[in-house]
Amino acid sequence: MRCTPRPGPPRRSAGKVRGTLSSGTSEGASRFWERHPEGDRAPPRACEKEPHHGDKRTLGQKTLRPELAEVIGERSGRTAVRAGCRPPIATDESVELRCGRAHAETASGWFAWRALELERAPLAIEGRRPFGPYDGHMETTVLGRTGLRVSVAGLGCGGPSRLGQTQGASEQESIRVVERALELGINYLDTAEAYGTETIVGKAVAGKRDGVIISTKARVRTTGGDAVNPSELRSRLLASLRRLGCEFVDVFHLHGVRESEYNRCVSELVPELERLRADGLIRFLAVSEHFDNEPDHRMLRRALKDDYWDVMMVGFNLLNPSARRYVFPRAIEKNIGIEIMFAVRRALSDPEKLRITIGKLAQQGYLDSGIDATNPLGFLVDNGAAESIVEAAYRFTRHESGSDVVLTGTGNITHLEQNVHSLTRGPLPQSALDKLNELFGDLENLTGN
Ligand SMILES: NC(=O)c1ccc[n+]([C@@H]2O[C@H](COP(=O)([O-])OP(=O)(O)OC[C@H]3O[C@@H](n4cnc5c(N)ncnc54)[C@H](OP(=O)(O)O)[C@@H]3O)[C@@H](O)[C@H]2O)c1
Repeated sequence: MRCTPRPGPPRRSAGKVRGTLSSGTSEGASRFWERHPEGDRAPPRACEKEPHHGDKRTLGQKTLRPELAEVIGERSGRTAVRAGCRPPIATDESVELRCGRAHAETASGWFAWRALELERAPLAIEGRRPFGPYDGHMETTVLGRTGLRVSVAGLGCGGPSRLGQTQGASEQESIRVVERALELGINYLDTAEAYGTETIVGKAVAGKRDGVIISTKARVRTTGGDAVNPSELRSRLLASLRRLGCEFVDVFHLHGVRESEYNRCVSELVPELERLRADGLIRFLAVSEHFDNEPDHRMLRRALKDDYWDVMMVGFNLLNPSARRYVFPRAIEKNIGIEIMFAVRRALSDPEKLRITIGKLAQQGYLDSGIDATNPLGFLVDNGAAESIVEAAYRFTRHESGSDVVLTGTGNITHLEQNVHSLTRGPLPQSALDKLNELFGDLENLTGN
């Protein structure tokens, strides 16, 4: 069997559409198939027929739709394919299906999806190969106009943890976090010169570069506060490439840009970014906001009026969903890839920090005084919507229309595994989303840090 990308512009992920369906049931899956013909999916790969199986590949009693088969990885000389199945396989149904040279993995997870391994199937994914054993759970999407096929979970190598470096992890321990992320199907790694983790990322991806999408960043001001000029920007990128051990980065950001700095970035640094692209040192132009200072997305609102940016990094979480108003609609319209940061951060991973944050909001009159100040998000867990607040927070960001890659930042492998699981689960129930919207839907003045 040979799979080739289907021509045509990248489309938005079907993940958003799935948000409207009940997950985890055969009924939900059936509706998925009825309502979402292949045109609703991120670009499927048109696969030639398997000689043994004619138009449809039958696995046990289940019938696959080969036109929806999508190559997602490679392991031990086999190609992992994700494919639609009818009748759908229910969530948590554990089956081993065999037919000719194909067999399904016994993965549980999203209702209608299964990882299949088809022997001797060559890969062709935008000329690049996703790396790592596919564990049956990771979903991928297309990062806006870049056309890059990315895992919906990305590894954030900065944040409070910096791969564990801020808690005293050894370099080897941090490298292991990155390796585990790749094993779990993450192919998107976000780092920056400022995080001190580029060398770690470089060592973890050595020999595997082709399958990994590397995003890094350069600040637009020196530590002394001077503006970085174009030649310095180039030097900074070259230093990042040396640390990463790479010839190019896929997504290169101007890091933490404030609104007041934006015009200068456009007039002085964007032309240099274009030269770096022409020189083959970067593939796509990106900008990340200074969410701590501008939780209302002032810089990005300005940047969305321009056409320079292929990718934007946005702060978005259930305590401050204002990107829903200010960023996502325009980004979707312009097909700009969106990476989410601050999905959990401190307030949503530390109960004490959450209580303090909510207490302050209530005092300032932003919240209904009736909110349970001792356990403000308890309703998410008590009503069974999620197993933990952290899980709810990641699922909240993952299923927002406009969100492509949700970054998870951790130095803890157990947390990483939990977070990948959360990010590949379905959306929160509508009742939980409604309550969150009622409580925090209008907020735009905090970060959750
Ligand atoms: N302006 C910018 O460009 C900018 C700014 C900030 C961040 N970023 C990028 O965005 C990425 C994501 O942000 P972030 O690192 O703040 O990520 P995050 O995923 O929102 O939060 C990370 C924090 O949550 C904790 N955590 C993660 N999983 C947990 C779990 N299952 N249970 C309990 N605690 C958990 C982590 O501690 P543990 O280590 O203990 O798990 C860490 O303190 C960064 O790594 C960076 O790449 C960019």
